[in-house]
Amino acid sequence: SASEKGAYEFFMLKEIDEQPGVIRGLEQTYLAEDGSVKLADDMMNALNQADRLYIVAAGTSYNAGLVGKSIFEKLAGVPTEVHIASEFGYNMPLLSDKPLFIFLTQSGETADSREVLSKVNQLGYESLTITNVPNSTLSREATYTMLLNAGPEIAVASTKAYTAQIAAETILAKGLGMLKQTAAAADFETGFELTKAANAIQSLVDQKDVVEGLAQKYLGTTRNAFYIGRGIDYQTAIEASLKLKEVSYVQTEGFASGELKHGTISLIEENTPVIAIITDPKTAALTRSNEQEVISRGASVINIVAEELATAEDQIVLPEVHPLLTPLAAIIPAQLLAYYTSKERGYDVDKPRNLAKSVTVE
Ligand code: G6P
Repeated sequence: SASEKGAYEFFMLKEIDEQPGVIRGLEQTYLAEDGSVKLADDMMNALNQADRLYIVAAGTSYNAGLVGKSIFEKLAGVPTEVHIASEFGYNMPLLSDKPLFIFLTQSGETADSREVLSKVNQLGYESLTITNVPNSTLSREATYTMLLNAGPEIAVASTKAYTAQIAAETILAKGLGMLKQTAAAADFETGFELTKAANAIQSLVDQKDVVEGLAQKYLGTTRNAFYIGRGIDYQTAIEASLKLKEVSYVQTEGFASGELKHGTISLIEENTPVIAIITDPKTAALTRSNEQEVISRGASVINIVAEELATAEDQIVLPEVHPLLTPLAAIIPAQLLAYYTSKERGYDVDKPRNLAKSVTVE
């Protein structure tokens, strides 16, 4: 069954491997033969009437929201804010005239998000919960629900829910962009692009051995590590660093590459691992030059780089995907680095200390 490990030592690796299938499943559920988006009309109309989207989430789901902001703004042309649930609940920002709230939540039970949804309901606003668990509390209490259908996620560190949330946001943004008649949505072939991303993920999970070797070489004993990137690669770096820190206990932060020099570079020592994510041609050279700055201070650099931008020295090369969907590819080696680092250090990968799969207290 879906909740048995089979030949896998840990659920985390099984769930990493399931990601291409989860994305294909979302395509089958939400895309019609002609490529149009199949989502309830009342829900799409509510989204279309909103002047601003407010994504509210915690943990990995919040990080999927950061990527979602770019996708909604670029494909649908709707201003989108992303908020940490525990902050939003008690420090509500100034809301627009017609806000629409999107709750991203694997479990549908996170107390911090439930608290915000209660307030949103009291204020009389409409909401959409994107979740992996049908009939979960956040699903029942929101106006609309979109299901991820990713199958049970057992490992505490979320992997397939993150990529499923990004794919779901993509489908939703395409549907909304078509209603708004944006050129970006018209040009975006959702099925083609998601299939390409699923194939890229497949090819990356097939290169596990390479990533395992890198984890052993660079992350086996280090005290800390950094992920860097710019733009959408920075969003990926934030989730990549969360994965590594939560299962390996290596203190890891994700930074905007250009911001390193404004403080963080003081932490770089001999052999500090710095992992750069480089998928955007506009900023690749800048991030490469930030890398030189840390290399000259002793850092050991691992590069996760898009095929078109890669050099012979880059350790992990990402197959080509649509520029908006690069997080779907770039996160895979980061998930694998986290997994193999945790294993290398002898931890229970699926049950990291101090963490719970679903946090039902505020
Ligand atoms: C917990 C889990 C995280 C998860 C977060 C939000 O902290 O350990 O993996 O990202 O809750 O959970 P949700 O179910 O709302 O996505």
